[in-house]
Amino acid sequence: MNLTNTITALQALLGERLATAKAVRDHHSRDTGWHAAAMPDAVAFPRTVEEVQEIVRLCVENDVPMVPYGAGSSMEGHTIPARGGITIDTREMNHILEIRPQDGLAVVQSGVTRKQLNTELRATGLMFSVDPGADASLGGMASTRGSGTMAYRYGTMRDNVLALKVVTPDGKLVKTGSRARKSSTGYDLTHLFVGAEGTLGVITELTVRLHPIPEAISSAVCAFPDAASAVETVIEAVQYGVPMARVEFLDAVAVAGVNAYSKTTMKVAPTLMFEFHGTDAWVAEQAQIVAGIAADHGAEDFVWTADAEERAKLWQARHDLYWATKAIRPGSELYTGDICVPISELAGQIEAARADIEDSFLLGQIIGHVGDGNYHAAYIIQPDDPRELAEAERLAERLVERALTVGGTASGEHGIGTGKLKYLRAEHGDAAVDLMKTLKSAIDPKGLMNPGKLGQGG
Ligand code: MLT
Ligand code: ZN
Repeated sequence: MNLTNTITALQALLGERLATAKAVRDHHSRDTGWHAAAMPDAVAFPRTVEEVQEIVRLCVENDVPMVPYGAGSSMEGHTIPARGGITIDTREMNHILEIRPQDGLAVVQSGVTRKQLNTELRATGLMFSVDPGADASLGGMASTRGSGTMAYRYGTMRDNVLALKVVTPDGKLVKTGSRARKSSTGYDLTHLFVGAEGTLGVITELTVRLHPIPEAISSAVCAFPDAASAVETVIEAVQYGVPMARVEFLDAVAVAGVNAYSKTTMKVAPTLMFEFHGTDAWVAEQAQIVAGIAADHGAEDFVWTADAEERAKLWQARHDLYWATKAIRPGSELYTGDICVPISELAGQIEAARADIEDSFLLGQIIGHVGDGNYHAAYIIQPDDPRELAEAERLAERLVERALTVGGTASGEHGIGTGKLKYLRAEHGDAAVDLMKTLKSAIDPKGLMNPGKLGQGG
């Protein structure tokens, strides 16, 4: 590796947009999760595709690792530069290049964040629906195949990315996909890069789908006597086919945390947070069907929030849940599970996860994007306490084992990073993981693009 040459050449290319200051490197040494930090040697802030191509060419020529970086809000160590090198931070590639309301699509640079795009879309009556908790960058969201609270109705990044531009390790700019809603031409390269976690190239541009903001929106919160009744309600509503825009489960620990952190006043009990989208009549009909199912499961009355400002406050509180949970135990980190299973299995899985927490000395909670069969267990730990870390690992492993037994997955939306690498073979089998490695080494023969992660480890 010839790091000094690379840094000198990058300084010539980028000037002050190549940072070697400790504070900047430190900021890029971790993500939002609990994983141990590792410093990059320098951080590059390109503004153009040509600059990204030049950075990549220089790194490959000098055998220097590089890590694509969006907003740093991933949770499994995705952006931690395990082998040092250059972090390529795309935050200055933040231009919305085109909005085509008539086709329901937008073309953006990869550093554009989800909130930035939605602010820009206000006048169009359209929205970008994928909403992880953080104000993540679209490039990062595509790289982790992220989702959030509206995926049951509007899909994940898998469904909402139509086309990409990616700088691959050979320095070429690869264009994938098209503006058409569907296509049957060639290997699906778009979806090879969606979820590749920055191990196959640097995403520089995305074409994403937009959805009309519905005429009527109504949100509700509903408390249940126990977690099983709440989850059974969701399973029945999904099986019935109600197109709920949002349906989020929070256990009592999570509700108490949200109330304390976001000054909400929800009853401390297992809870579902709903949102319905449509016309006035269609929203009322969906709500009536779901309220009927909920009542059969012993639910209390729905507490409705039709006012736009109150709704925004409610969902912001949900999006801040990660921070609310950390605040339950000051100085803690969250060891998170992110299980996704076929919907009919969800109640049993959540019940077993809850029972594990009750039997453990660790404090934990269960929340979920339950319409998708996706739930998170969060174990609230001090990561430098080996006993706590080992216990969280044991519990998380049980979640994955149970999910795989019923045909589920080790991660519904957070991804693999370094944290979940150990589950890849158990989920996909040797032949599939070996094929991932073959793809990785064909595209990145020197193994320099986000090394030690997907396609190399596991
Ligand atoms: C969420 O659903 O809030 C996010 O995925 C983060 C988390 O797991 O807490
Ligand atoms: Zn989530």
